[in-house]
Amino acid sequence: MKHTLMALGVVASLAGAGLSAASPKSIDLPPDGVQLKPSSLPGYAKAQANCVACHSAEYMRYQPATAPRPYWEAMVKRMKVTFHAPVEDADMPLIVDYLVKTYGNEQGK
Ligand code: HEC
Repeated sequence: MKHTLMALGVVASLAGAGLSAASPKSIDLPPDGVQLKPSSLPGYAKAQANCVACHSAEYMRYQPATAPRPYWEAMVKRMKVTFHAPVEDADMPLIVDYLVKTYGNEQGK
C-alpha cells in the first residue's frame, strides 16, 4: 500500500513537469510537428507561407540563437537561390526580421 502511494506521487510529479511547456526539459515533438513560433511581426505570416513547405520549422529551431541578421539573410537567400523557395524579394527583409528576432540574436528586442 505504501508503495502504491509513492508510485502515484511520482506519476503526479511527472505529469506536473510535463505541463510546463516553457521548461527546457519539455518533450521534443517529431520534426514534422514543429511549427514556427507565433509572432506579431509581419514576417511571421510570410515565413509560414514561404518557409515550411519543404521542411518543418525544426530547421529554424536548430540554428544558433547567437546568429546575427546577416546569417539569416544568407539563409533566406540560399533557400531562394539554391532550393528555389518561392520567396518574393520584397518579403525577404520581413522574413529575415522575423527570423532574427525569433530564432537569432535579436530575440527579445
Ligand atoms: C523549395 C524548398 C525549400 C523552401 C521553400 C525552404 N527551404 Fe529551407 N531547406 C531546404 C532544403 C532542401 C534544406 C536542406 C539543405 C541542406 O541540407 O543543406 C533546407 C534547410 C534549411 C535550414 C537548415 C540549415 C541549413 O543551412 O541547411 C534552415 C534554417 C532553412 N532551411 C530555413 C528556411 C527558411 C527561413 C525558408 C524561407 C525563406 C526556407 N528554408 C524555405 C529547402 C527549402
